[in-house]
Amino acid sequence: MTLTNALSPAREPVKFAYWVPNVSGGLVISKIEQRTGWDIDYNRKLAEIAEASGFDYALSQIRFTAGYGAEFQHEPVAFSQALLAATTRLKVIAALLPGPWNPAVAAKQIATINNLYGGRVAVNVVSGWFRGEFAAIGEPWLDHDERYRRSEEFIRALRGIWAEDNFTFRGDFYRFSNYSLKPKPIDPQPEVFQGGSSRAARDMASRVSDWYFTNGNTPEEIAKQVDDIRAKAAANNHSVRIGVNAFAIARETEAEARRVLAEIIDKADPEAVNAFGHEVKNAGKASPEGQGNWARSGFEDLVQYNDGFRSNLIGTPEQIAERILALKAAGADLILLGFLHFQEEVEHFGKHVIPLVRQLEAERPLAVAAE
Ligand SMILES: Cc1cc2nc3c(=O)[nH]c(=O)nc-3n(C[C@H](O)[C@H](O)[C@H](O)COP(=O)(O)O)c2cc1C
Repeated sequence: MTLTNALSPAREPVKFAYWVPNVSGGLVISKIEQRTGWDIDYNRKLAEIAEASGFDYALSQIRFTAGYGAEFQHEPVAFSQALLAATTRLKVIAALLPGPWNPAVAAKQIATINNLYGGRVAVNVVSGWFRGEFAAIGEPWLDHDERYRRSEEFIRALRGIWAEDNFTFRGDFYRFSNYSLKPKPIDPQPEVFQGGSSRAARDMASRVSDWYFTNGNTPEEIAKQVDDIRAKAAANNHSVRIGVNAFAIARETEAEARRVLAEIIDKADPEAVNAFGHEVKNAGKASPEGQGNWARSGFEDLVQYNDGFRSNLIGTPEQIAERILALKAAGADLILLGFLHFQEEVEHFGKHVIPLVRQLEAERPLAVAAE
């Protein structure tokens, strides 16, 4: 970690995003009582609360069929638009899955939403792990690294369509000839996030994405990913920011927070967790280096399906704020959060954790990393 001095500017305040519960069952594969709804009324109110509580972004998911429970799933682009209509500052990140999505349609959809809502829409290009889902909708299933080759072309196509007139592109997956999208998105271009931690995911981030989203992890493990990606990005003359997933359980005492975690795990649905674990490990197998998102996830990690417990934002607001600073020192620019009872806990997080983070950031400013 490098603290600032007179010559080095301070890093920006860490940003906060929350997972939009646009699928049923909440963010943990557990039969614990959850007061989180997946319907639009619940989500509109949640977006308003998040915006008022200091959250910068809301991230939706794409699922075509039930995976980890998640029996019902709203489509993320349509759903994001409804959340934009309910808010005025929040940025909404819509998940896009190359394969089902074609970049021409995606670029046009997002450009329109971008025009309608003052540039507040971003995208999360995900590469897919759920073979059964692809089979269900008749989409060919590519090998792991091929999925990333396609995602990279998808991102290059989006960026080209958004930026250029007479866009021409000859890829292995997508072709464009003299295509001019009108209207284009208003300035700035929609931000492009991506999800995944494998070698292929990191390499793609270091070439084309604005943001790299990764599963929950310790600051030490996050730092390894960040150093790896930043070094490659610098060699490519590209800069990429880092978002880290976490499941937050903030309670008055650490013991209370740990009790909630223990109950989530005790009441986990073993059949659904194991089925999910089987799918994701299978999907990652073709990632030759074995560094994929779930390469080292055990049963307890998988109960929060993006390893959110590993980031350890579980305890008192003071402990959580310190751990967020440690993740920031490791290179995180954004913390993506899931909660058990979203509306209540997003509000609580905004009231009790974010102000402590801002205070610590003011007391111990970190210097911008040398590229
Ligand atoms: C924050 C985050 C959000 C994701 N959202 C989705 C999603 O909505 N739908 C989906 O199919 N995959 C989603 N993924 C999965 C990734 O696109 C990718 O398939 C997975 O992380 C495995 O990648 P890896 O083997 O390259 O690590 C997400 C991943 C992360 C980290």
